[in-house]
Amino acid sequence: MPQSAIGGFAGVSNVSVFADIPAGATILDLGCGSGLDSLIAAQRVGPRGRVVGVDFSEAMLVRAVSSLRTLGQANLIFLRSSAEKLPIADARVGHALVNGIFNLNPYRAEIFGELARVVKPGGSVFGAELVLRAPLPENARAGADNWFS
Ligand SMILES: C[S@@+](CC[C@H](N)C(=O)[O-])C[C@H]1O[C@@H](n2cnc3c(N)ncnc32)[C@H](O)[C@@H]1O
Repeated sequence: MPQSAIGGFAGVSNVSVFADIPAGATILDLGCGSGLDSLIAAQRVGPRGRVVGVDFSEAMLVRAVSSLRTLGQANLIFLRSSAEKLPIADARVGHALVNGIFNLNPYRAEIFGELARVVKPGGSVFGAELVLRAPLPENARAGADNWFS
């Protein structure tokens, strides 16, 4: 995988490695970031499959597109969109990957709603998230300025 994808990886687990991703499937990588899971999924679905990586951060998508150009994966596209309102038709996706979007996001119900809308009946959502078992102390709370500090 290109350094632009590896260096920008900010996920919680190796979702695209552990998920059951059949050849020929249509995959959504929601909150794709710099695109590592999308790139791995695109290799796993093969030429008859298709992967769509979605993120609202232009900076992340610049990295993702740069990696895509390096690998030349023709079955993968990246879209800039909010996860709460996806530009994807109903029941268009076979399986979705979600690697660390919910723990950052106050609009979880809306995002789950969009996943339920775009994933086909009988499809799957594979996710990895950080889960707090107790509230964070005030001095450990993060904002947009110190996400990964
Ligand atoms: C922790 S990073 C994980 C990125 C990627 N999944 C990975 O494994 O490297 C979370 C990503 O979700 C994106 N994100 C967070 N909330 C979002 C939303 N409401 N709509 C679209 N993208 C969102 C962020 O821009 C960021 O790229």
